Amino acid sequence: MRTQVGIIGAGPSGLLLSRLLQLNGVDSVVLERQSADYVLGRIRAGILESGTCGMLRQARAGERMDAEGLVHSGIELCSGSRRQRIDLAALTGGKTVMVYGQTELTKDLMDAHEAAGSHIVYEAKDVAISELDSDTPKLTYIKDGAEHTIVCDFVAGCDGFHGVSRRTIPEDQLNTYERVYPFGWLGLLADTKPVGDELIYVNSERGFALCSMRSRTRSRYYIQCALHENVEDWPEERFWETLSTLLPSETAAKLETGNALEMSIAPLRGFVAEPMRHGRLFLAGDAAHIVPPTGAKGLNLAASDIHLLSTALIAFYQNGQSELIERYSDNCLARVWKAQRFSWWMTTLLHRFPDASAYDRQLQMAELNYLAQSTAAQTALAENYVGMPYEDGK
Ligand code: APR
Ligand code: PHB
Repeated sequence: MRTQVGIIGAGPSGLLLSRLLQLNGVDSVVLERQSADYVLGRIRAGILESGTCGMLRQARAGERMDAEGLVHSGIELCSGSRRQRIDLAALTGGKTVMVYGQTELTKDLMDAHEAAGSHIVYEAKDVAISELDSDTPKLTYIKDGAEHTIVCDFVAGCDGFHGVSRRTIPEDQLNTYERVYPFGWLGLLADTKPVGDELIYVNSERGFALCSMRSRTRSRYYIQCALHENVEDWPEERFWETLSTLLPSETAAKLETGNALEMSIAPLRGFVAEPMRHGRLFLAGDAAHIVPPTGAKGLNLAASDIHLLSTALIAFYQNGQSELIERYSDNCLARVWKAQRFSWWMTTLLHRFPDASAYDRQLQMAELNYLAQSTAAQTALAENYVGMPYEDGK
C-alpha cells in the first residue's frame, strides 16, 4: 500500500500530526503497537500551554477541552511556612494554562479520527523502517499474523522514548544528551476534590510534592520517592500519610483522601537526541526528547514539534517547498533546549537530592527567597511555565 506520510505511534504526537495532515489534504497511515484502550489507560500529565490548546482546536478536536478544561491563571510554590503564588496571567500579559488530562486529549483526537474514517492500525506488531536512504522509505508490520508493507514519501517517528524510530537512525548520525535524576515521582489519581483551586508545588525538607488535578472532582497528587521503590511498597494509606507530612499544615488539614484510581512511579530524566531528522525520517515528541515532569513540558513539547512538522509537510505538499523540512530539526531543538533548561531548573529548585549538602539546600532557599521578592524572577518562571512562543528560528 502507498501513503504520503507513514506515522509510527498513536500517542498525542502521532494522532495530532495525522489529523492536521488530513485536514490539509495530506494522506497518512498511523501504526500503533498497542490497542486503543491500552493507549487511553496510560495516565500522563495534564497541563496544556495555550499553543497546545490551539493545536487541538486546529485539529478540530478542541470542543470538549474548551467546555470541560479548567483555565488556571496561577500556581503556588510552597516551602516550609512560605507560600508564594506565581500569578501567571499578570506576569505574562494575560497568558494562562489549561488543566486537561492527556488521556482526554488523546480520546478527543481518537474520536475525531474515528469520525473521519482515518487509517489507524492498532496492535501493529514488529513495525520496522527500511530503505530510509531512498525517496520511498517503507514501513513493514505484522497485523493478525500477516505481514504488511506501506511505501511512504516520509516517515514520522512519533513512537515515544522506547520506540523503533530513533533506534533506526545509525548511531554515528545521532548525538544524545541525558541526565537521569536520583529519584522518581509516585503519582496517585483519585476521585476526590482537589485540595486547592490551583496547582501547589512543594519543596519540603523531606522531599517534593505536587497537588494537581484533572477536574473539580478528580485529584492527581505526586510525592518524591527513591529510585529503588515499587508501587507495591506504597499502600494507599502510606501515600496519603506521607503526602500530608509534606504539605503545609493548613493544606494538609484540608486534604480529602479516597480510593486510588491509579498509582504509578515515573523516573525523572532529561534526554535529547539530535538531529531530529534523518533524511526522510522525522522524530517528534518523546521519541526525540524527554523532560522531567516538574515543568509540565513533555506533552507541550510534543505539540510544538508537531506544529513545526505539520507546517513543513503541508508546505511541501501544497507549495513544493522543502525549506521548512530542512529547518525542522533546528527549529524544534531551539525550543526543546529551552524547555530542558526550565524543567531542569524547576526540578533542581524543588526536590531533595540524596547527595545534597547543607550548602545546596541553602541555595534552594536563596532561590525561593529571590522568587518571593523579585518580579523579574517570577516573570522568568511564568513565561516559561505558560510556554515559550512557537518560533520559526530563522
Ligand atoms: N511501533 C508502533 N508503535 C509504537 C512503537 C513501535 N515500535 N513503540 C512505541 N509505540 C507507540 C506507543 O505504544 C505509544 O502509544 O508510540 C506511542 C508514543 O506515545 P507517547 O509515548 O505518548 O509519546 P508522544 O506521542 O510523543 O507524546 C508526548 O510527552 O512527556 C510526554 O506525557 C507526555 O506521553 C506524552 C508525550
Ligand atoms: C499532572 O497533573 O500530572 C502534572 C501537573 C503539573 C506537572 C506535572 C504533572 O508539573
